[in-house]
Amino acid sequence: MSFRALLAFLVILSVASGLSVASERMVVQHSRQSAPAGFVSQGAAPATETLNIRLALASNNLAGLQQKLVSVSTPGSSEFRQWLSKDEVTSYVQPSAETVAAFNTWASANGILPGATSPHGDWVSISVPVSKANTLFAAKFEVFTHPDIKSNLVRTLSVSLPSELVGHVDVIHPSTDFVHTSPRVASIQTHKGRPPPTKSCDTSVGSGRITPACLQDLYGIPSTPATQRNNSLVVTGFSNIFAETADLSSFLKQFRPDIPSNTTFSLLSVDNGENPQGAGDGGGEANLDIQYTLGIATGVPIQFLSAGVHNATFEDFVQDALDTITFLQGAEDPPTVVSISYGSREEDFGQAFATKICDALQGLTARGVSVLAASGDEGARGATVNPNATDPCLQNNFLPEFPAACTWVTAVGATVGIPEKAANFSGGGFSVFFPTPDYQKTAVSGFLHALPQNFSGTFNKTGRAIPDVAMQGVNYEIVNNNVTMAVTGTSASTPAFASIIALINDRLIAAGKPVLGFLNPFLYASQSAFTDITVGHNSGLVCPASTPAFDATTGWDPLSGVGTPLFDKLLAAAFKA
Ligand SMILES: *[C@@H]1O[C@H](CO)[C@@H](O)[C@H](O)[C@H]1NC(C)=O
Ligand SMILES: *[C@@H]1O[C@H](CO)[C@@H](O)[C@H](O)[C@H]1NC(C)=O
Ligand SMILES: *[C@@H]1O[C@H](CO)[C@@H](O)[C@H](O)[C@H]1NC(C)=O
Ligand SMILES: *[C@@H]1O[C@H](CO)[C@@H](O)[C@H](O)[C@H]1NC(C)=O
Ligand SMILES: *[C@@H]1O[C@H](CO)[C@@H](O)[C@H](O)[C@H]1NC(C)=O
Ligand SMILES: *[C@@H]1O[C@H](CO)[C@@H](O)[C@H](O)[C@H]1NC(C)=O
Ligand SMILES: *[C@@H]1O[C@H](CO)[C@@H](O)[C@H](O)[C@H]1NC(C)=O
Ligand SMILES: *[C@@H]1O[C@H](CO)[C@@H](O)[C@H](O)[C@H]1NC(C)=O
Repeated sequence: MSFRALLAFLVILSVASGLSVASERMVVQHSRQSAPAGFVSQGAAPATETLNIRLALASNNLAGLQQKLVSVSTPGSSEFRQWLSKDEVTSYVQPSAETVAAFNTWASANGILPGATSPHGDWVSISVPVSKANTLFAAKFEVFTHPDIKSNLVRTLSVSLPSELVGHVDVIHPSTDFVHTSPRVASIQTHKGRPPPTKSCDTSVGSGRITPACLQDLYGIPSTPATQRNNSLVVTGFSNIFAETADLSSFLKQFRPDIPSNTTFSLLSVDNGENPQGAGDGGGEANLDIQYTLGIATGVPIQFLSAGVHNATFEDFVQDALDTITFLQGAEDPPTVVSISYGSREEDFGQAFATKICDALQGLTARGVSVLAASGDEGARGATVNPNATDPCLQNNFLPEFPAACTWVTAVGATVGIPEKAANFSGGGFSVFFPTPDYQKTAVSGFLHALPQNFSGTFNKTGRAIPDVAMQGVNYEIVNNNVTMAVTGTSASTPAFASIIALINDRLIAAGKPVLGFLNPFLYASQSAFTDITVGHNSGLVCPASTPAFDATTGWDPLSGVGTPLFDKLLAAAFKA
């Protein structure tokens, strides 16, 4: 009799004798008092509905990976930019044999056939009916709705593990994570008259219209095409927001008349993600991201990654984000730059899940991938402003956005006008999950020392601080569903900054040098390649300008980071480092 068959026999026996697996000692793994504001329970999830559950298995040596990544990304190190192979990352991230055995024993004892495993072996998926999930994890899965999301979420307020899996399983998803994400576009406005695509920024119309020519002029970004084909920038797309080739072509005709208007991008599909091209299928976020990567990273191969949104219970940003990262981890030749213009408040992910996603991003950056994320469009208050609160603007609980707050991501804030000021919506602040990394300790302590006493208790002084950098973020000209319009947000700044990194990588590859990869230690060591932004107050677009918030200042600040890039200086620093 094989081991597996013996276990199955024992399970049948235990069921027949009325014992259940839940009678083993269960240890609460994740729990919360209530769902975040806005989520409403519609009652128990149907018992027979299938839940696709992801379980994160503990990695064997994340501390080792972190030490290695700090070494390869810190200028001056003897192994600077010697990025890791996929197998090297796997050697740190894969679970230990003991963890795998504990999981397999539990799975077969419960009649579960594990499904797909992630490229580094640290995530497994299982499919079970809700009733069984409730028993296995001592949970009570319910259906939750939120006015701003199209479909329901199946979540539980508490989830437990049998004691023999404690320490082997880090995260159970879905469980207590309630993420209400949105693309980081603060506002979209349509307009009729538009300025011609002049070389300089047109500050005469409203607060000015941003075009590729304007960004090239302001930051010294070259318009000459990149030459290397093995350099690629991935624009991530979530929430069924699509990028249109007809809109791109119209955009290029208007705003990059010097390059062929049939220049296009390729599609990467995760979880059957699509990119339909019918009239009206375009979405502002995806069109913005595609138009400002093709429009700025001239000649760099651009890929639009569309993460499939599953029906009903499976519309789930957290899962889509996780699947996107594991997809990229699986690539033998990963892209050199990834741009993420989506996010949500850090606390909604929960510490365990945010940590696991951040760990996955660590593995990706260790392979030489630069990951850029929008710092958020709600100023110092993050996405925490509840419009129904008596006075949301009095909530002095400053929280950052995720994934921008992840230590291994480069968070991009927004500026406005010329000379540049930090935009009032530019998201910034301090993580409550991740500690201040060494690469920014000096820069951030300068800000903290100068901060008035009355900020005490409004944020976590020892947390990872964002943003790292900033770029123009107000009134970007785009074409969306055949309408030329202006959009605003850190969503705009992020693909623009990502494009600068992609252009520098092109030069490095052409010179036979390794790409920039994990950026932050290099960026903080190269602050003279940035224009320091010293004016601005991030009270947000909703609250009066007098509302308490962070102020931009000399040196790093939680609105504009170390400032906005100067292409030539950053390029020179990249070659010198
Ligand atoms: C605010 O109140 C409205 C009306 O009662 C409700 O529909 C909405 O869900 C509430 N929003 C939040 C974020 O609580
Ligand atoms: C790009 O291709 C060149 C030449 O084929 C090679 O030397 C280099 O390592 C490649 N770079 C990357 C980032 O793949
Ligand atoms: C763009 O158009 C030119 C000229 O019509 C053609 O030679 C080229 O192959 C086209 N490029 C793409 C990517 O379709
Ligand atoms: C999505 O859900 C709706 C409503 O339950 C259903 O009519 C539709 O067929 C589903 N679509 C897919 C692709 O499963
Ligand atoms: C502040 O951040 C640190 C590092 O992540 C964390 O350990 C601590 O719990 C946080 N403090 C608060 C009050 O959130
Ligand atoms: C786009 O708009 C222009 C006018 O602004 C019109 O001529 C053209 O037919 C439209 N294209 C599509 C595909 O709707
Ligand atoms: C935020 O800044 C914009 C200019 O970028 C300005 O139009 C708006 O009035 C400001 N909002 C507040 C509440 O200060
Ligand atoms: C602290 O006081 C300064 C100066 O009066 C004010 O600008 C700032 O908004 C205050 N900060 C908080 C968090 O109340």
